Amino acid sequence: MRVLLIGGGGREHALALGLAADPAVDHLTAAPGNPGMAGVAELREVSAADPASVAALAVETRADLVVIGPEAPLVAGVADAVRAKGIACFGPSGGAARIEGSKAFAKDVMAAAGVPTARAYAVTDADRPEGTATVARALDEFGAPYVVKDDGLAAGKGVVVTDDRAVALTHAAACGQVVVEEYLSGPEVSLFVVTDGETALPLLPAQDFKRVGDGDTGPNTGGMGAYTPLGWLPEGTVEQVMATVVQPTLAELRGRGTPFSGLLYVGLAITPDGPRVIEFNARFGDPETQAVLALLETPLAGLLHAAATGTLAGHPPLRWRPGAAVTVVLASAGYPGTPRTGDVVTGADRAGIIHAGTARRAADGALVSAGGRVLSGTAVGADLAAARDAAYALVAGVGLDGAHYRRDIAEAAAAGRVTPPA
Ligand code: AMP
Ligand code: GLY
Repeated sequence: MRVLLIGGGGREHALALGLAADPAVDHLTAAPGNPGMAGVAELREVSAADPASVAALAVETRADLVVIGPEAPLVAGVADAVRAKGIACFGPSGGAARIEGSKAFAKDVMAAAGVPTARAYAVTDADRPEGTATVARALDEFGAPYVVKDDGLAAGKGVVVTDDRAVALTHAAACGQVVVEEYLSGPEVSLFVVTDGETALPLLPAQDFKRVGDGDTGPNTGGMGAYTPLGWLPEGTVEQVMATVVQPTLAELRGRGTPFSGLLYVGLAITPDGPRVIEFNARFGDPETQAVLALLETPLAGLLHAAATGTLAGHPPLRWRPGAAVTVVLASAGYPGTPRTGDVVTGADRAGIIHAGTARRAADGALVSAGGRVLSGTAVGADLAAARDAAYALVAGVGLDGAHYRRDIAEAAAAGRVTPPA
């Protein structure tokens, strides 16, 4: 099988490792890819969010399967353009990707499907006086902590959770189009579901660390680390989420004429009233994918190909390695604000280092930082404590001026201190 992988972040590096390790794959192209993937994939330039460019590259590379990593190409309809060429594509249509592309659309689907989620109001004119008044009424109805979400794609950074009403109002006005939500309390879970639109297979649930600082302090980021599995998650939770969230959502999207095939990412809070959806994404999560795929034994290309071709019902059950996996993200100075880039990165060519925002400097080929989240250390171990030690050892061996990373990824879980509310 010849595979074309679209994207160039940490998630895509992890996907590339999984795809390249599948004996069924005899050629892997990554576009644009990143320097960490050069050993396992042929790297090509592409405008990833331009449907015609990606479809042309799929034809040119004679791809049997195209895997689309990031959300922007999906929302732009890249999967539709690839399928229009008769090529199997892992990733939802532009219509189905709206489940991530618009928070208001996702809320509407959830309401229609009866999916448990936070109560919410969508406000389209939060930057005008009437809109501000609507936002204020919603904030007062739900009370603090206040949750205000930019309606569109914002790379995980469009959400403000605050006790400060003025901050919530200012964020809403700056976004214009927002969703104001009830606050959900409880540990968060990322559940990835591989689906062909009908059949759905859950991967191991993972936990992500969204805030930049230790102890969940500071602003939200795209994700600073992750681990799997979740020993603390009550038994039966995944089955419950499949039955109350995933199947109704897939049915609703089929009913709307936009069946969802690809990866449905269910972001949940495990609240005292049970699991509640915080958000849907239309693609693998980053950095949870690095940890989850590290434990997946089932050949990845075969699984994604089955989802892309509507044959998941005939796919064997997923197999997992025993133990645990932890990923720790190393970010550049300034992230999640404007990151400093162009600094030399050392120690990044070891197994377990997964590249995200790295590049080769044109002048001398040196590896340099090229984004906010630069790379991650991903390791497996017999248990969470062992996987943590190994992941932190990887990150500690990386040199990058001004870099920062959280010291407490999976710490509470390893110590048995994560408890779902009773
Ligand atoms: P989202 O982009 O919707 O995933 O939001 C980013 C992060 O904000 C989530 O991972 C949560 O940590 C937090 N968040 C979003 N919505 C809520 C909510 N309704 N209650 C509590 N926290 C939330
Ligand atoms: N890890 C959060 C995300 O991928 O959106």
